[in-house]
Amino acid sequence: MGTVRSRPTGGPSGSRSHVLDCVTVMRTRVFSLPILLLLLVFIQPGARAQQTSLPHLEKRGAATQLIVDGKPFLMLGGELHNSSASSLEYMKPIWPKLQALGLNTVFTPLSWELIEPREGTFDFSLVDGLLDQARAANEHIVFLWLASWKNGMSSYAPVWVKEDTRRFPRVMEFGREVEILSPLGKATEQADEHAFAALMSHIKQVDGREHTVLMMQVENEVGVLGDSRDHSPAANAAFDGEVPARLTAYLQAHRATLYHSLRELWDANGDKTSGTWTEVFGNTQRADEIFMAWQYASYIQAVTAAGKAEYNIPMYANTWLEGETNPPGQYPSGCPEPRVIDVWKAAGASIDIYAPDLYAPDFIAWSRRFHRSGNPLFLAETRGRAAGAANVFYALGEEAGISFSPFGIDSEASETDPLADSYHLIAEIEPLLLVHQSAGDVHGFVLDREHSTVDFTMNGYTLHVGLERSFGQQTETGFGLIMALGKNEFLGAGEGFMVTFTPRPESGPQAGIAAVVEGKYENGQWIPGRRLNGDENDQGGHGQFPPRGETIERITLYGYGQ
Ligand code: DGJ
Repeated sequence: MGTVRSRPTGGPSGSRSHVLDCVTVMRTRVFSLPILLLLLVFIQPGARAQQTSLPHLEKRGAATQLIVDGKPFLMLGGELHNSSASSLEYMKPIWPKLQALGLNTVFTPLSWELIEPREGTFDFSLVDGLLDQARAANEHIVFLWLASWKNGMSSYAPVWVKEDTRRFPRVMEFGREVEILSPLGKATEQADEHAFAALMSHIKQVDGREHTVLMMQVENEVGVLGDSRDHSPAANAAFDGEVPARLTAYLQAHRATLYHSLRELWDANGDKTSGTWTEVFGNTQRADEIFMAWQYASYIQAVTAAGKAEYNIPMYANTWLEGETNPPGQYPSGCPEPRVIDVWKAAGASIDIYAPDLYAPDFIAWSRRFHRSGNPLFLAETRGRAAGAANVFYALGEEAGISFSPFGIDSEASETDPLADSYHLIAEIEPLLLVHQSAGDVHGFVLDREHSTVDFTMNGYTLHVGLERSFGQQTETGFGLIMALGKNEFLGAGEGFMVTFTPRPESGPQAGIAAVVEGKYENGQWIPGRRLNGDENDQGGHGQFPPRGETIERITLYGYGQ
């Protein structure tokens, strides 16, 4: 079993010192020392852990934020390759590299087959070892519960589950069983719930005070591959039956905020509140997809609830992404694509966040599709390197994202990775960024030759942001974020862009640049460097963030003329 050690940079808020403070107060009031000692013995460790605040999500102003030990937290993360964390030996040299890259959170796969190799016999030594390694590297963990499904398939289910196809039925496609567990299998759901609950109970026991584990991903990219739905006897019977009233009631109650294509489909079939799946959603594969979304969602909401009943930290489901045109089954049918997230929400409220696995080139459009209707942007899997180094500014700055996490981080980790520059710079300004995410006065952007400018309105000004240009040469790419620090003051961070300011209303005085100061933050303290007022900002013409090297600048404005 893993030992519980303190994180080098401060453990759970006030655990030990809080107990000592209480002891002092109580001693001076009513209790004698022996009674106090007795009291301390009878306060169970679990009960003490509950007294400290667990990692949780909280709506703070304009943003939903992850709160860790009482403070908002940005996940500068990375996801390990699928099987890396199955060996502690393999992981040993990887942690220091992840630390050097600037990660504060490691998305760590954990498979059902390894923790319950025989039914009812649990082995948590891997969990404990990973926690020990993470703590030694000063990293947090998000565990990925790879159980009934991983990328649609069921490869990480224990062999005792795989072998028993009568008790744990398979999806059927074209008259044959395939290697995908059917989400209609009640015994499978119960076995998965049981294992996940045991895992969460164990994590509570070994980490309930330290909060190394911040969140859980439940399953991975679920959905039927190869056909648009399960055709097993149980699935056929359910498909020919009525759409559950709970789903149609949800559609009615949330009509105004339903994802547009789901609402259009429901409308096109007459907004029915009862009927079979094809009656309510039409006789196409879209009905199959909605049916599968309901089946997977019901199962996974139940698994999530069972885990939360043991240890209530935030949990999310991730999804493979596909546009609106390919037929379901070419991608996992039923996975929480934007058009069926409402179906998942109708099935239960245990899953806190729906997260895209965002590799698609149109990063901004996909981010917006997920940051809506109370769903914060949470990136569990995305591109790293140069693309990630830029996109992280958009995700955390423009969409108030909670997490950024490039996939396969263990093979990418190196200090020369451009992602390291972004993570180190964002870590410097993290406390400020969190405050401004919640105040709603921060904007992030990614620019290239096709999208070379963007305007924002903030703090009484219109900000015109464009690709950096000096001596007549425009750079190829730029990215960054800008936040309003105070009246007439802005902070910009990133590279390859420039910014000019127009006061609103435009009829008043014009804005001049009083000062541009580059610098850095150390432990939250601003350390000014050069004052830039020559070629570096075109003689006071704009704020300018050179290409090749991320910088932080504070820009102060003044008004002149009428
Ligand atoms: C998405 C999956 O969720 C991951 O587990 C992983 O295998 C990647 N795709 C690979 O690109």
